[in-house]
Amino acid sequence: MPQTKGILLSGGSGTRLHPMTLAASKQLLPVYDKPMIFYPLSTLILAGIRDIMIITTPHDLPQFQRLLGDGKTFGVQFTYRAQPSPDGIAQAFLIAEDWLAGSPCALALGDNLIFADRLEFMLFNATRRQLGATVFAYQVRDPERYGVVTFDETGRALDIIEKPKNPESNWAVTGLYFYDHRVCEMAHKVKPSARGELEITDLNHLYLEEGTLQVDHLDRGCAWLDAGTPDSLMQAGTFVQAIQSRQGLLVGSPTEAAFRMGFISVDQLRERGESMHKTALGQMLIKVADGSKHPSKHKK
Ligand code: G1P
Repeated sequence: MPQTKGILLSGGSGTRLHPMTLAASKQLLPVYDKPMIFYPLSTLILAGIRDIMIITTPHDLPQFQRLLGDGKTFGVQFTYRAQPSPDGIAQAFLIAEDWLAGSPCALALGDNLIFADRLEFMLFNATRRQLGATVFAYQVRDPERYGVVTFDETGRALDIIEKPKNPESNWAVTGLYFYDHRVCEMAHKVKPSARGELEITDLNHLYLEEGTLQVDHLDRGCAWLDAGTPDSLMQAGTFVQAIQSRQGLLVGSPTEAAFRMGFISVDQLRERGESMHKTALGQMLIKVADGSKHPSKHKK
């Protein structure tokens, strides 16, 4: 079985964040102390994915390259590709088809942030499934903004609808998706929606129809935030700040994630921390490196 590859989709014009996004890509805006894209990148790394394609607008691509480079700092390999016009999330698989070359694939939206205790375990389960797709559902107050999934009494997914006017449940589908090796073949079957986009929800629906869509619940102990509006951007930043300063735990650091996954060594981790030693983030990375060299320090 080929290794799961990852796509980080950072397209769109970020109109709901104008004027902030007139000159800068939404996914490069700060969420507290890191660029937004670091958060979904950390998620892909925690899923054990080392081969990652970053898809963005032709205009924003050089900035992403400047920020992320070839991936060596995180022990991964980045490939960059442009999405000439924003024709929908499922288009990512048509853009990446030759590169995927029949591999299973995880897709993470560049403005989604997931924080969960059991995240690595959930990601591990999703990558281990060989047939079908896995998506994650999270309860929200305003489901009409998202893809919405309904369940029967046994918890099995019944239907999935993109931005319904009258949602039948408040379970939103998050922007993190895992697909089997047939994803490109399936994506070719998706027809443009009324708003002219290849909807990710329609792709998920194809898996649902064949009975291979797994919908995992993100429960109360998890936080899922999207940072697409001024309010949600601010909330996401405040959330990260609260966890990091209260608990001293890093949220959304691809460097720390890469270290935890064994993609980079403790020396590389320290070096990265030292290169940013003037920041609290750099100091926290150094602390993680120190802690790992002296594990007894953490034991009572
Ligand atoms: C997209 C998807 C939607 C999903 C959401 C998650 O919406 O179409 O199904 O729930 O991402 O962030 P968009 O961000 O394009 O409005």
